[in-house]
Amino acid sequence: MSYPETTPTAGAAGATSAASAASAANVAGVAGTGAGATTPAPHAGIVVRDVHRSFGPVHAVRGATLQARPGSVTALVGPNGSGKTTLLLMLATLLKPDTGSILVGGHDPVTEPEAVRSVMGWMPDILGSWASLTVLTAIETTGRLYGLGPQRARTRAHELIELVGLHDLARQPSRVLSRGQKQRLSLARSLVHDPSVLLLDEPASGLDPAARVDLRLLVQRLAAEGRTVLVSSHVLSELDEMADAAVYLEAGATVSADRIARATTSLRAWRIRALDPRSVLPALEAAGVPREAVTLDNLGVLVALGGEEHAARLLGALVAAGVRVTAFAPAVGDLEHTFLDLRSTQAPIQTAPMPPMPPTQEQTPTNPGDAS
Ligand SMILES: Nc1ncnc2c1ncn2[C@@H]1O[C@H](COP(=O)(O)OP(=O)(O)O)[C@@H](O)[C@H]1O
Ligand SMILES: [Mg+2]
Repeated sequence: MSYPETTPTAGAAGATSAASAASAANVAGVAGTGAGATTPAPHAGIVVRDVHRSFGPVHAVRGATLQARPGSVTALVGPNGSGKTTLLLMLATLLKPDTGSILVGGHDPVTEPEAVRSVMGWMPDILGSWASLTVLTAIETTGRLYGLGPQRARTRAHELIELVGLHDLARQPSRVLSRGQKQRLSLARSLVHDPSVLLLDEPASGLDPAARVDLRLLVQRLAAEGRTVLVSSHVLSELDEMADAAVYLEAGATVSADRIARATTSLRAWRIRALDPRSVLPALEAAGVPREAVTLDNLGVLVALGGEEHAARLLGALVAAGVRVTAFAPAVGDLEHTFLDLRSTQAPIQTAPMPPMPPTQEQTPTNPGDAS
């Protein structure tokens, strides 16, 4: 998928003008209902600075700082209870921060909630829907609440039902929908006023693998049209292929760029497969990979490498040695690797220079066949 070459500000304009004439008219129509929302936002995207929020003694968010850019999907990653929903609720104007500042599409959710709502689409983690309304009516009613005229609201509902693939259920009451279908309805509702900023709280939760792929493609497309998308999940593999950038929340605080940089360059297992699996181990040895950096599992050979630079060099060496490589990839996704590494290094860690081919801590037999 190709993303438009836009600066953050140009991207915001893209969200309201490039997508389609109909949707641009839609945004303008809705923006007209929000106080002061008719002028383009000075800073598109999302900017959060040192936001805190407590519930009595519980410090749910304690120092969140992040930026999400137009034209990209930003993952908000953290375990259950780390403050993702609380942070998203503050961005969505539904909860006030105790301290700190937030801009959504250039507007402050505390002082300009109408302006934020006119440019922001919100998909909550649990669909609070009118159980007896049909899918069509639920979306149409949401459109009316956002200020669309009756005809426009109906047309928009039909468009969105197609977009999220709910046409067969359009006239069913929303109470009969499965969890995954409710997620689609919720996503459709969040898009009703063609927002330029989308906040999605655990959107992939409850989706089967095929529906997750559909969701990923749709979310990436919405971003490619210039929107800012912030999407949360505690299931990292859901976001790994969807996101262009990631923000990590740990006990309510965003993790510093420094720690993320250290975690992403730490040792990581890469899985290698080849047409002739027996050719891999000798070629690794010839390439200077220490035996203790190599393990086997039932899917292939795992090699601990210190980063993409090392990986690229090793792949080149294997191919040059005649190994017919069929797979060469990190054994876990980027987000998961970084997240696990952050969790295993709660305290600040010291940086070490990267050795050319780093060893692992664990000594494991590399090849059961040649163990003597
Ligand atoms: N309304 C509330 N009252 C009291 N505690 C809350 C409330 N909302 C959230 N919390 C607490 O704040 C912390 C963060 O919750 P939440 O933002 O839902 O995390 P996440 O979405 O990452 O799972 C949790 O400890 C949760 O129990
Ligand atoms: Mg949550």
